[in-house]
Amino acid sequence: MNVLILGSGGREHAFALKLQESNKINQLFVAPGNAGTDKIATNININPTDFNAVKKTVLENDIKMVVVGPEAPLVEGVHDFFLADSDLKNIPVIGPKKDGALLEGSKDFSKQFMLKHGVPTARYQSFTKDNLQDGFAFLETLEPPFVLKADGLAAGKGVLILNSLEEAKAELEEMVSNQKFGEASATVVIEEFLKGIELSVFVLTDGKNYKILPSAKDYKRIGEGDAGLNTGGMGAISPVPFADEAFLNKVEELVVKPTINGLQKDGIDYRGFIFIGLMNDNGNPSVVEYNVRMGDPETEVVLPRIESNLFDLFEGVANQNLNEKSFSVTNKTATTVMLVSGGYPEAYEKGKEMTGFNDVQDSIVFHAGTTIKDGKVVTSGGRVMAVTSFGNTIEEALEKSYKSIDKIHFDKMNYRKDIGFDLV
Ligand code: AMP
Ligand code: GLY
Repeated sequence: MNVLILGSGGREHAFALKLQESNKINQLFVAPGNAGTDKIATNININPTDFNAVKKTVLENDIKMVVVGPEAPLVEGVHDFFLADSDLKNIPVIGPKKDGALLEGSKDFSKQFMLKHGVPTARYQSFTKDNLQDGFAFLETLEPPFVLKADGLAAGKGVLILNSLEEAKAELEEMVSNQKFGEASATVVIEEFLKGIELSVFVLTDGKNYKILPSAKDYKRIGEGDAGLNTGGMGAISPVPFADEAFLNKVEELVVKPTINGLQKDGIDYRGFIFIGLMNDNGNPSVVEYNVRMGDPETEVVLPRIESNLFDLFEGVANQNLNEKSFSVTNKTATTVMLVSGGYPEAYEKGKEMTGFNDVQDSIVFHAGTTIKDGKVVTSGGRVMAVTSFGNTIEEALEKSYKSIDKIHFDKMNYRKDIGFDLV
C-alpha cells in the first residue's frame, strides 16, 4: 500500500523512518518533506493545508492512507474533507476531524471539555472584549503569576505568563480589544498558575481503544538552564524519570480514560494522536493542554522507543481494532538534541550548507528544517536537525548525542548543551 505523510519537520522524518519498517508499505510519500525524508521517501512539494493539492497527490499516487503530522490541516478539516469526497472517503486519515481537533484549536473548548468530563486542570474563565471588566475582576481573584491564553492557534506564542496584575490586565486588553494575536485572541482563557514539573504523555486512539505511548519531557526555552525565549522545542528525553508507575497509573485513570470516554460521550469519533501536556504537582497530574498531534521533538524520542510496527498500529486506528494490536516499548532511554540556526527563535539566516551528518553512526539524525539546493543539503528553517541516541541512562544517551553533534557543521549552528539538566 502507498502511504502519504503530511508535514516537513523532524516529527515527519521520524514517522517516515518508522513506517519504512513495514513490509506492507509499498511507496512512502511525504508532503512537503525535507532533505531527510527525500532519502527514504518521495517528497511532494505541496502545502498540507491545500486540500485540493492533497487530493490530487493522493489520487495520482494511489495513496491508501494519510498520516497528518502538524495541527493546521487537522484544525482546518483535512479529515472532514476526505470523508466528504466520494473519491477519498474510504482512505483512512490518521488524525482527528475538525470536532476533535478543537481540543487544540480552541483552548476555551478544551477547558470546557475537561471540566465536563472531570479531567483535572487549572481553574479558569474565558473572556472577550464584551466582558473585559469581568476579566479584570477575575484576575483580581487570582494569585500571581497570571496565565493568559489566546483561545485559537497562535503558532505557539499565544500563552502569556505575567507576574504583575497591572501587566496582566493590560495584556488581556491588548489580546481581546486590540487583537494582539489576531482572531485567535478574540477570546482569552485566564487560568490559575499550576506548580510542578511538566511532562507530556502521548496516546494513540481509534476512538474506542487506546495505547499509551512513552512519556517525554521537552526543553522549550532557547537558553541553558531553561532561560530565554520559547522555541518549538530544543531537545527531549524519554522516558521521564519522575513519571513513575504510580504517577502514570493516575494519568491513565484520571486523564486518559475520562478523555477517551468524554470524546465518545460527546459523539466525537477521534482517530489519531492525543498529546497531553501535564503538570506533575507532588505526584498529582493536571492537564496544561491537549494537542491533537505528536510533539516535535518529542516524536524523535517517543517513536524510536516503540518496538511495535507503527503501520500495524495505524491500521488498528483505521479499522477500530487497535486493541488487537501488539504494543511494546524498549526500556532504554532516548534523548534528542535539536540543532538550530543562529538567531532562532528570532530572525535567522537560511541556506547554510550542512556537512558531517552522514558520518554519524551512533545516533539517528532526524532532519527538520533542511532542503536540497544544487545537490547539497542546506538549512531551511529555525530548527534544523534532531540528533537522537539511546542509552541505559540519560547521561549515556546524551553523551552519544553530543559526540555525534561534534561531527555536524553549518554556519552559526546553535544547540543547548544541557538537555536533561534537571533530571540527572
Ligand atoms: P500551552 O500552549 O497551553 O501548553 O502553554 C504553553 C506553556 O505555558 C506550557 O507548556 C507551560 O509551560 C506554560 N503554562 C501553560 N498553562 C499553565 C498553567 N496553568 N500553569 C503554569 N504554566 C502554564
Ligand atoms: N514540542 C512541543 C510541541 O510539539 O508542541
